[in-house]
Amino acid sequence: MCGRGPGRAARRRPACLWVTLALAWGAGSRAGAAAGDGGGEAPCGAEGWAQAAVRPGPVFAAAASYRGPGNDDARSNKALPILLWWSGSLFPHFPGDTERIDCPRGSCLVTRSRRAARHRRTKAIIFYGTDFRAYEAPLPRLPHQTWALFHEESPMNNYLLSHPPGIRLFNYTATFRRESDYPLTLQWLPGPGYLRGPALPLAEKDAWRRRGYGPVLYMQSHCDVPSDRDRYVRELMKYIQVDSYGKCLRNRELPSERLRDTSTATAEDPEFMAFIARYKFHLALENAICNDYMTEKLWRPMHLGAVPVYRGSPAVRDWMPNNFSIILIDDFDGPQELAKYLDFLDKNGDEYMKYLEYKNPGGIQNQFLLDSLERREWGVNDMTLPNYLNGFECFICDRENTRVKAEQEHKKSRGKTPAPAPHVAHVQHMGCPMPTPGFGSIEDLSGEDRKDSTNAEAAQLDIVLEILEWIKTDYDALKHL
Ligand SMILES: *[C@@H]1O[C@H](CO)[C@@H](O)[C@H](O)[C@H]1NC(C)=O
Ligand SMILES: *[C@@H]1O[C@H](CO)[C@@H](O)[C@H](O)[C@H]1NC(C)=O
Repeated sequence: MCGRGPGRAARRRPACLWVTLALAWGAGSRAGAAAGDGGGEAPCGAEGWAQAAVRPGPVFAAAASYRGPGNDDARSNKALPILLWWSGSLFPHFPGDTERIDCPRGSCLVTRSRRAARHRRTKAIIFYGTDFRAYEAPLPRLPHQTWALFHEESPMNNYLLSHPPGIRLFNYTATFRRESDYPLTLQWLPGPGYLRGPALPLAEKDAWRRRGYGPVLYMQSHCDVPSDRDRYVRELMKYIQVDSYGKCLRNRELPSERLRDTSTATAEDPEFMAFIARYKFHLALENAICNDYMTEKLWRPMHLGAVPVYRGSPAVRDWMPNNFSIILIDDFDGPQELAKYLDFLDKNGDEYMKYLEYKNPGGIQNQFLLDSLERREWGVNDMTLPNYLNGFECFICDRENTRVKAEQEHKKSRGKTPAPAPHVAHVQHMGCPMPTPGFGSIEDLSGEDRKDSTNAEAAQLDIVLEILEWIKTDYDALKHL
C-alpha cells in the first residue's frame, strides 16, 4: 500500500497562489494515478513504470470555473450551504481549508475542516471510497446531511461498496460506472484523438518479431490481485511467446538501464512508449472485474496502436470505437484457443490490421462513445477544462441548493408543495462481483490460494455485519437526538 491515497496531492502543493489550478489538477491526477491500478499500487520502487505516475500536459493554462449563466447567487458566504470533504487530502482547492465555489446554478462553501461536520449548514459530506470505513464516519448521521461517494479507483480497494447496504449509505456517487450520478467511466481516455494516435507500421512490428521478440507484451508489477490475472497469463505463456517485463512472471529485461530505472522512466516516458508500441498485442487485464471499470491498461495500447487482449469490464464493447478493435479473453474457451488466434493474426497481417481500422478517418463509429466524450464537462490531461473533483463538488452543490429550496417551499406551503424525494445510491453505482480465479475453478486452487479466497469472503461478511450493526446504532442514536 505504498504511496497510496490521500496526502500525495497535498504534499505536492506549490507555494504560490497562481498555481492553484495546477494543484486542482494535481489532485485530479493524483486520484487518477492511483487509479492506474487501484490504490495500493501507487508508484514506488519498481512499480513506477507500470503506472501513469502523472498525466503530462500543458501545465498552467486556462481557468477552471464551473460558474454558469444560471448562477446569479448573491448570498454572502455566511448564507451558503457547506460541503465537507471528509477525505481532506482530496480537497481540490488551495490555499486554505475553505473556499467558496460558484457552480452552474448556485454557490456553496467547501471545506476540509472536519469541525464543520455537525454544522447546521453542512448539507453534504463527500467521502473517498478507497479510505471509507463505516466506523470512522461521522456518526450519528444527521438527517439534514447527504453523503456523497467519490470512487474512481479500482473496486478492489473497497468491496464494501459493492454490497447493497454499503453503497446505499450514500446519496450521490461519482464512480466508474455509467449508472453513477456523476460517471467517471472514461477518466482514462483523454478524447477521440487519443485513440487515433498512429500505429507503428506493420513491417516494423514484423521486423521486431524476426529479432526474437514475442507478439505479445505483458507488463505487470502488482501480482496478487482479485482478478487473478497472472494465473491466466502463466497458462497462456505455454502456448505463445509472451514477453513479460514486470515483476509478475518476468521473463525479459527492458533494453536499457534508463528504462529499467523506474525513477526516471515513467509509463508516459516517450522511449518506453516507443518500446512497447512495437508489440502487436498487449495483455490488458484489469486488477478487478467489474462493469465499466476500464483503465489506462485498455486505452494506452489503443493509443499506441497495439491491440489490447483484454479482460476487465464485461461491458467493454459498449465503449469501443468499432466492433473490431480489441480481443476479449473471455470470447475464447481458454488460453490455448486464444493463443491459436493470436498466432493466426501474427502470421496474417491483413487480418491483424483490421483491428486498427478505427484509426482511419471516420473509423470511430461508436456514437455512444463519441457522445459520452462530448458530453462530459471535465477534462483529462487538459488544463483548459475543470477536473472531475471540482465537477463533482459542483454537482453536489447544485443538488443541495435545489434540495434546500424545495424543502423551504414545502414548509412555506404547509405541505401543499411536496417535499423533495430522497435520492439514494443504487447497487449499480458500483456493484462489482466478488473475485473468482483467473483461470480454472475454485476447486483447482492450491490450498494456500483457496484459504486466501475463503478468508476474503469471511472478511467481507464481517464488514457487512459491521455495517448492519452500525446502521442499527445510528438509528437508535438518532431517536435520542
Ligand atoms: C456492433 O455490433 C452490435 C451488435 O453485434 C451492433 O448493435 C452495433 O451497432 C455495432 N456497433 C458498431 C459501431 O458497428
Ligand atoms: C440519503 O440517504 C439515506 C440512506 O442512506 C436516506 O435515508 C436519506 O433519505 C437520503 N437523503 C436524501 C436527502 O435524499
